[in-house]
Amino acid sequence: MTNTASIPHLPIVYRQLLDAIDVGIHVINDEGESIIYNRKMSEIEDMDRKDVLHKNIMDIFLFNSEDESRLLQALSKGYAHRHAKQTYFNYKGQEITTVNDTFPLSHDGKRIGAVEIAKDITKLERLTRENAWDKKDARFTFDQIIGDTFAIQEVIENAKRATRTSSSVLIYGETGTGKELFAQSIHNGSERASKPFISQNCAALPDSLIEGILFGSVKGAFTGATDHPGLFEQADGGTLMLDEINSLSTSLQAKLLRALQEKSIRRIGDIKNRSVDVRIIATVNEDPIVSLQKNHLREDLYYRLSVVSVLVPPLRQRKEDIPILVDHFIDKYNHRFQLNVPGITAEVEKLFQKYEWPGNVRELEHMVEGAMNLIYDDEKIDYSHLPVHVRTKFHPYAGQTHSQDATPDLNLTPTKALQAHLDETEKRYIEQMLQHERGNVTKAATKLGLSRQSLQYRMKKLNIDNRK
Ligand SMILES: Nc1ncnc2c1ncn2[C@@H]1O[C@H](COP(=O)(O)OP(=O)(O)OP(=O)(O)O)[C@@H](O)[C@H]1O
Ligand SMILES: [Mg+2]
Repeated sequence: MTNTASIPHLPIVYRQLLDAIDVGIHVINDEGESIIYNRKMSEIEDMDRKDVLHKNIMDIFLFNSEDESRLLQALSKGYAHRHAKQTYFNYKGQEITTVNDTFPLSHDGKRIGAVEIAKDITKLERLTRENAWDKKDARFTFDQIIGDTFAIQEVIENAKRATRTSSSVLIYGETGTGKELFAQSIHNGSERASKPFISQNCAALPDSLIEGILFGSVKGAFTGATDHPGLFEQADGGTLMLDEINSLSTSLQAKLLRALQEKSIRRIGDIKNRSVDVRIIATVNEDPIVSLQKNHLREDLYYRLSVVSVLVPPLRQRKEDIPILVDHFIDKYNHRFQLNVPGITAEVEKLFQKYEWPGNVRELEHMVEGAMNLIYDDEKIDYSHLPVHVRTKFHPYAGQTHSQDATPDLNLTPTKALQAHLDETEKRYIEQMLQHERGNVTKAATKLGLSRQSLQYRMKKLNIDNRK
C-alpha cells in the first residue's frame, strides 16, 4: 500500500474544489486503480464515477497497445505528455476533443501513481472549424452522396427538386448524417452555384454575437463595433446555411423571420434597411415537431422555412449502405495515405452491421480513417484496428468474434454469478492462447489484441500459471 491510498479520504474542501473546477482530473495509484475522478472528467468521458473509481483502468478499457493509455505509460515508464490533443466519439455519438496533460506522480523517488488533466475544447474546436466559412467553398454535389437504399435515394430525389427554386429549405437529421452535404449539393445544383455559399452554426456563439454576425453592424452601434456587413449581405445572391437554428433565441428567430419576409436586413445600429437576395437552408438536429413543442422553434418561422423539408435518415436505418460507404472511404484514404487496403474482414463487416452508429456516417468515416492510420501493410481492416470503445463493446469474450473458443458453457450451475463465469471463460481462453504460443506472453498478447502489460495484469488477477 502506498500513501496515495489515503486520497479518497481527502478533506471535503479538496473534494469540493476538485468538482468545482472546469478541467477533468483522473488520478490512478501505483497499481493502476482510479483514486480521483472528478465531475468534469466524468462529464467529458461520459462515464459514471462509480464505474471508474476504485477500479483498475485495465478492467474498464481493453487496451490494444500501451500507447493507447497515456496514464499507463506515465505510470509504467514515467512518460509525461503535454497538450496532447485527442478526438473521439462518446457512446452517444458526440464528437469530443480534449487536450490532455499526463504525468507520473512521485514521492521519495518512487513512482506512486499518475494523473491526467483534460481540457474539453470541443466547443472551441467547433468554433474555429465552423467559423472558417470564408475559407470554405461548397464542394459537394448530389453525385457524391453515397447510398443505394431507397431510404436515402428518396431523400436525394426530393432534395434535387429544391434546386429549381429559391425557396427556403429545412433539413432535419441527427449529427453526421450528411445535412451539410445536402445543403451544399442543393446550392451547387441551383442557379446560385456561382454565388457564395456560407454556413454558420447558430449554437456555437452567444446571441449577442450571432446578431452582429448575421446582420452586421455600423460603427458606434456598441462598444468596439465597426462598420461590417453581416452574413446576409456577404451571401447576397447565394445561399446561407444556418445550422441548429433551434438554438437561436425567440427574439432572434423573429428578426430572422422578418428578414426572410421583407428580403431586407438592418445592420445593428443602422437606420436604413438594405435589401438582400439570399436563399436560406436551415438545419435542426432534433425532430422539428419536438422543437415546436418545446418552444425551441417559433411556429411562424418553421412554416416559413419548411417550404421544402428534407429528412435525412440515420445510418442505423439504412445499414445496407454500410458496405458501399466503407468502400468509398477506403478508396478516399487509400488515395490520401498512399495505401492499398483491400477492404474489411468478415468479422468487422458483421460488427459494423450490429453497431448502432450514433455518430452516423461521420463516425463511420472517422473509424475507417482511424483504422487506416494503424495499418502498415496492405492488409484488411480487422478488429484490432477499431477504436477502443467499439472493441470493448464487442470484445471477444462477449462471444462476438472468437465465438468457438469463447462459447459459454451453459451447463454451469445456475447460481454461478456472471462475473465468476466471465472470469472463468477469460482464464480458459488466455490459458489456451498461452499454450498455443508455447508460453510466449508477447505473442499471446498480440493474438489476444491486448498489450503485454494488460495480459500480465490479467494473468496475475486470474491466477494463471504460465508454466503449465
Ligand atoms: N451519404 C454520404 N455519402 C458520403 N459521405 C457522407 C455521407 N453522409 C455523410 N458523409 C460524410 O460525413 C461527414 C459528415 O457529414 P455532414 O457534415 O454533412 O453531417 P451533418 O449532418 O451536417 O452533421 P452535424 O449535425 O454534426 O453538423 C461529411 O464530411 C462526409 O464526409
Ligand atoms: Mg453540419
